[in-house]
Amino acid sequence: MLRIRPDLDPIQETLLLTLRARALDASAPTPILGDTHQSELADRLDYDFAKLELKPSLIYGTALRARKLDDAVRAFTAVHPNAVVLDLGCGLDTRMLRCEPPAEVDWYDIDYPEVIDLRGQLLSQSSHLVGADLTHPGWTRHLPTDRPTMIIAEGLLPFLPGDTFHTMIREVTIHCATGELALNGYTRFAAWAMKYHPSIKALGIRAAQGFDDPHEPETWGARLTLIEEQLLTRAREVALFPQPLRALTQLTARSASLSRQANRILRYGF
Ligand SMILES: C[S@@+](CC[C@H](N)C(=O)[O-])C[C@H]1O[C@@H](n2cnc3c(N)ncnc32)[C@H](O)[C@@H]1O
Repeated sequence: MLRIRPDLDPIQETLLLTLRARALDASAPTPILGDTHQSELADRLDYDFAKLELKPSLIYGTALRARKLDDAVRAFTAVHPNAVVLDLGCGLDTRMLRCEPPAEVDWYDIDYPEVIDLRGQLLSQSSHLVGADLTHPGWTRHLPTDRPTMIIAEGLLPFLPGDTFHTMIREVTIHCATGELALNGYTRFAAWAMKYHPSIKALGIRAAQGFDDPHEPETWGARLTLIEEQLLTRAREVALFPQPLRALTQLTARSASLSRQANRILRYGF
């Protein structure tokens, strides 16, 4: 099999971290997400995944947050079978294949043009592909305006500098009349600490963004109202984590403030 060598900048390269994490989860004895498309994709890349030094916390944490975001998409499209789904900063994720949305759903996978080009070479699927820098206004012109819209932003928040994540979400919620935003949240501390993480260090990323109060996005002028904050240390799937990660996560789950520094899913209506 001819393998493709990805030519990506460090921020784009973070998609290989999450791809690899989900691929490793798929081959674990008790997978959390079990997405074998991800291992097939990783195998088709000519890339030194070993340099990313993925630890169990990153592998299972990534799989768990993907599973929770998938659940949010499935719940939304079950109620709105004519929905539009936007996967912002989609990387090489195969969320649409996992979620199997109703046929009338229009699914948009959006990322930098270089990533969308790579995605197009590797995956034949029926989503709309949009290659754009999300921080440059105007890319929303590709999207319908009059349908319930589910916005997913997984692993994206830390990499949009300053207040560009807020501005970008505001642009989407102005364009799309009504819907939901679901993302994995990072606190300011978690974002600061990220640069010391071996996998992020390996990619040479030095700065990342986050916010602490789950209500903060309600002040972005994007008409967002918090629906829920899920602290993933308390998810039942933690029982499938290998030891000692399971025990450590269950210990962390006792404290809401410590749990907030780990994986959390935030959902907002607009
Ligand atoms: C950590 S990866 C997550 C990818 C995917 N959501 C996943 O879970 O595998 C972050 C992604 O955000 C994309 N990204 C970061 N900044 C972006 C921007 N300004 N415009 C478009 N995409 C961006 C990167 O290219 C990358 O694919």
